[in-house]
Amino acid sequence: MLSKSVLELLQCPSCGDPHLQIGSDRRPALVCVGCDARFPVVDGIVDMTPPEKMPAPGNYRTETLFNLIAGVYDAVLPLMSLGVWRCSPLRYVDMANQAVGRANGGVLLAAPVGTGAPLERVLAPYHDLTVIGIDQSWKMLRKAARRFEDTDHNVLLIRASFQHLPLRDGVVDSVHSLNGIHTFENRVATLREFARCMTDDGFLAGSALVRGQEGVADTLLDRYERYGVYPLLRTAEFLARELEEAPFEDVHFATYGAVMFYSGLSRAQAAQSAESA
Ligand SMILES: C[S@@+](CC[C@H](N)C(=O)[O-])C[C@H]1O[C@@H](n2cnc3c(N)ncnc32)[C@H](O)[C@@H]1O
Ligand SMILES: [Zn+2]
Repeated sequence: MLSKSVLELLQCPSCGDPHLQIGSDRRPALVCVGCDARFPVVDGIVDMTPPEKMPAPGNYRTETLFNLIAGVYDAVLPLMSLGVWRCSPLRYVDMANQAVGRANGGVLLAAPVGTGAPLERVLAPYHDLTVIGIDQSWKMLRKAARRFEDTDHNVLLIRASFQHLPLRDGVVDSVHSLNGIHTFENRVATLREFARCMTDDGFLAGSALVRGQEGVADTLLDRYERYGVYPLLRTAEFLARELEEAPFEDVHFATYGAVMFYSGLSRAQAAQSAESA
């Protein structure tokens, strides 16, 4: 939903200008005042992916994969989770709940939002929340749009690249990144982008697939990588180091099967907690 308060959270992913207007053409679009870039709004989803002449192969292969499986994703996810990743899907719901609670009536960024499944299950009591859901796959976003259209929640879905989040600095209270970080082309750059958009007391909760935990999962992940779907995936400890390298502190993680769940605080909040201790 493109309300004035939501527009105040956005910025142009191409030039960084925070002034975006609703265009006056027949086709709905957001227009950047700074560089005149047009971002079409299709079925309520804003396409804020900057045009790329040479998209990285890992990115477009991952996008194609998710466009292909969007229709069956919700049915397949719990089966894959139990049978291949060996992790109860209820853990995703727990994590979504934690991230939504920490948004504390402010702004929650779901990146990637996918089809929005575990998120929708926990949103019901949080009517005062603004949710921004970002993903690169149109088909996953369309599923999410259908899921949220009959709710009265303030949800804006955006197609965007994680390396150029179309969000202003310091506007997000909590980031929910379910099964996402392993699909990011440049994980540290994306985590820095998350940190840039977060408030000083921001909270990040996510999960990622990692290697070295489950044989069956490793076999499938190797195959993904061979086809160039995901970039290289490492162990849980490796990802924890990357989180700390990006500016997050107080990083906690636990692995269940091949899924690593993590949380962290933006640096400013970590500094405050240390002072008050
Ligand atoms: C495993 S799904 C997880 C979706 C959702 N969080 C869930 O669990 O239902 C990974 C999602 O990340 C998105 N994705 C992968 N790489 C991306 C990128 N570089 N930029 C934006 N979205 C990306 C895919 O389109 C896909 O929807
Ligand atoms: Zn611009």
